[in-house]
Amino acid sequence: MKVLSVVGARPQLVKLAPIASAFAGTEHQHVIVHTGQHYDVNLSDVFFSGLGIPDPDVHLGVGSGSHGVQTGAVLSAMDPVLELEKPDWVLVYGDTNSTLAGAIAAVKMHIPVAHLEAGLRSFNRRMPEEHNRVLTDHAADLLLAPTQEAVRHLRAEGLADRTQLVGDVMVDVCHLVRDDVLAGRYVPAALPDGIDPAAPYLLATLHRAENTDDPARLATLLGALAALPVPVALLAHPRLVARAAAQGLKLAQGAVHVGQPLPYAAMVAAVLGSAGVVTDSGGLQKEAYLLGRPCTTLRSETEWVETLVDGWNVLVPDPSLLGDTWSALATRPAPDAERGTPYGDGHAATRVVEVLARHAR
Ligand code: UD1
Repeated sequence: MKVLSVVGARPQLVKLAPIASAFAGTEHQHVIVHTGQHYDVNLSDVFFSGLGIPDPDVHLGVGSGSHGVQTGAVLSAMDPVLELEKPDWVLVYGDTNSTLAGAIAAVKMHIPVAHLEAGLRSFNRRMPEEHNRVLTDHAADLLLAPTQEAVRHLRAEGLADRTQLVGDVMVDVCHLVRDDVLAGRYVPAALPDGIDPAAPYLLATLHRAENTDDPARLATLLGALAALPVPVALLAHPRLVARAAAQGLKLAQGAVHVGQPLPYAAMVAAVLGSAGVVTDSGGLQKEAYLLGRPCTTLRSETEWVETLVDGWNVLVPDPSLLGDTWSALATRPAPDAERGTPYGDGHAATRVVEVLARHAR
């Protein structure tokens, strides 16, 4: 069996790592296509080197652009690649513009498509990612769902017969790297200047278009981080840096210390070293949960609803409406409650390879 993975953005590289490693031990052929949606060293290269992912076989180099330009560029660049490679499966990951473009390119050429992390829904139609998810799920032939909740969503949309529950591959990689970090097999994280790793700090990220692209909203969120009573390590995504600069907003103010996005192992170490996480990232909400740190999510909904159980994760649509409660909430201690294993057993990637092989034409 020949499987062609299409990746392009940071969260997809994290998911690619366990998949590439699961393929490595088999007779199957795994071809990696990098669309180039993310091109900064910090968002792309360090994930290949840090997670031991083989270099991409094909690089489309599409780069940034509006949704139409970026999606269209991947779409048109995929045709000759698929023509040449003729894979048994195209495997697309998550919810980015690269996901949707990879799926559409393949189905139009009658190449079976499998969607990893199928069935996630925010039900927020203003999120570009939500459209990417829904359209990809409905185009794909095989839906690899990470959770029971995702299976329920797919069933409700009439997609039950294409759905397989495999678990979440992010557990595979997160637990492996956590064990390495705890065993001292990684150099400690390079936290932003001004953050003392031995003292309590919060780890923050902010990059969703809904939070960065509206100047008033971005100002509110940055103000809320600045007002926190403990130091905040803000790992700034290029979109945040660009939008803040364009809107004349300063990232480093009050409690906030700004740093670069971190490689995966350094990020895991930074979460483990933190007192808690404040974010709008989907992946980081889950990593906080898997690593046992309380998370405060600056959104009105989450796709990872399992993290909300027992208050491990709390949604805050607008911190300015909370008054003094905001600081108390963001700095709350980890709940006493045991966490379940809603994301699976850490062997999802092996299951993905098995399911693909079983369903290959
Ligand atoms: C994308 C995904 C989002 C995912 C996120 C992870 C879409 C619609 N969004 O958002 O689902 O959670 O990746 O990081 O696919 N930029 C750089 N260097 C880079 C990449 C981006 O400077 O390597 C800047 C550019 O100014 C670009 C902007 O960030 O215009 C946005 O990049 P884009 O790929 O459109 O989306 P993300 O915000 O990264």
